[in-house]
Amino acid sequence: MNANLKIAPSILAADFARLGEQIAEAEAAGADLIHVDVMDGHFVPNITIGPVVIEAVRRSTSLPLDVHLMLSEPDRYLEAFAKSGADALTIHIEVCQNIRQSLQRIRDMGLRAGITLNPDTPITDISEVITDIDQVLVMSVNAGFGGQTFIEQSITRIEQARSMLDRENPQANLAVDGGINLTTASRVTQAGANILIAGHAIFQGENSIGAEILALRKAAQST
Ligand code: DX5
Ligand code: ZN
Repeated sequence: MNANLKIAPSILAADFARLGEQIAEAEAAGADLIHVDVMDGHFVPNITIGPVVIEAVRRSTSLPLDVHLMLSEPDRYLEAFAKSGADALTIHIEVCQNIRQSLQRIRDMGLRAGITLNPDTPITDISEVITDIDQVLVMSVNAGFGGQTFIEQSITRIEQARSMLDRENPQANLAVDGGINLTTASRVTQAGANILIAGHAIFQGENSIGAEILALRKAAQST
């Protein structure tokens, strides 16, 4: 059993008209983080939410807010997202002009800094900043939409990221995002991920949000 396992519900799949209520249900069931997907309609085709919604989410929960920035120009908005109440900001390596500087700015504001990679980006790209990060997020679908199917090659990519982190930054978290459900959960934890981000499996499952979180945690811990 991995004591470091964290379940991070992705609110993209929640009912936004009942967001506070659904986050409270997730928190009561033992969710460890709330994952927030910010999309700009440019880096990814979809548009989701911005700092004003994060401010409201901040008021509704004491859980850390793990904010995933799918933006073409994340540098323009780092302060705004920090002020909105985010605890961690994860930026895409594909868009950053000066990734080291962006990560440092996030850390200087007192937040945890993460780097993420889409499925076609080589994992080895993290090597240049591996010691400057608090988490690596391996995308197991192409960023942009919830409810997509888990990409099989992600397992090898997680293993690769895990061994790089074990060597160079063992304290850092390794997160996985996209298509995480009762079937994929144990496979990604065995490959070395310790943060499991899940939207549809939690908010649009057959059972209550709380029951889905408990089931996902159990599945992730099974070998
Ligand atoms: C996709 C987002 C994910 C998404 C996951 O771009 O980053 O966080 O909400 O959704 P599911 O778990 O439904 O695949
Ligand atoms: Zn995400």
